[in-house]
Amino acid sequence: MTPKEKSDPRLDQLDPAALPRHLAVIMDGNGRWAKSKGWRRVKGHEEGAESVRVVVRACRRLGLDALTLYAFSEENWARPKAEIEALMRLLGRFLKSQRQEMIERGILLNAIGTIDRLPQATYDLLQDTMAATSGGGEMVLTLALSYGGRQEIAQAARLLAEQAARGEIDPSAIDEAALAGALYTQGLPEVDLLIRTSGELRVSNFLLWQIAYAEFHFTDTYWPDFREPELYEAFRQYASRQRRFGQTGEQLEGG
Ligand code: FPP
Repeated sequence: MTPKEKSDPRLDQLDPAALPRHLAVIMDGNGRWAKSKGWRRVKGHEEGAESVRVVVRACRRLGLDALTLYAFSEENWARPKAEIEALMRLLGRFLKSQRQEMIERGILLNAIGTIDRLPQATYDLLQDTMAATSGGGEMVLTLALSYGGRQEIAQAARLLAEQAARGEIDPSAIDEAALAGALYTQGLPEVDLLIRTSGELRVSNFLLWQIAYAEFHFTDTYWPDFREPELYEAFRQYASRQRRFGQTGEQLEGG
């Protein structure tokens, strides 16, 4: 940790015990950010990739167990070919440039989604980086790529149905834990906090099962402008909320 990081006053205001263990982010508004400055959309994605670097580093430093980023949805395949190529190039650049840092900081890279749809070179780089960081025990960074929540739940149901058809499991034993264990996110903690940037108030098919009890934080800030102050503000607001999981406030306070 550099002296600058250590003395950041905004960090002192955060109670480590009140931070989320698992943060998920819908990174939205790259295109509008660029357009508002009269620039090409790709410039927004480039600056968005810088926000990814900043947020990953901050979450690791704060000791989060898991960070899951919606980097490319199933629906994003419908974007112009040139934009898809630019996003894949940026992802490749991110993987190459962050690999060493991820290893040094104990970050394990994970991917969820139909990643076999990615261009071969991106897919190979992703697999290489996941293998290189597989020893990371401090934080899991999951990139949702070619991801859709309904797609994920459907594949989990298919997986369990196949196991039942082979006689490996009894259909009556399929409960919430079995379904959660068949999702791409199996092994990750529950999502505690979901952030969506750019003023949109939607979930857009992201982690549909996993956000059942998550707190939501919506901000008008476009993703390329979402940096440490905005992240700390989201954590500060999260810490001030009482998560009741269906119980009463009095029950939780022991009253
Ligand atoms: C939404 O902005 C963002 C995306 C579709 C992709 C997110 C990608 C990055 C942040 C950069 C590369 C990723 C990594 C992991 C390095 P939008 O284009 O939908 O914005 P708009 O709604 O304003 O058009």
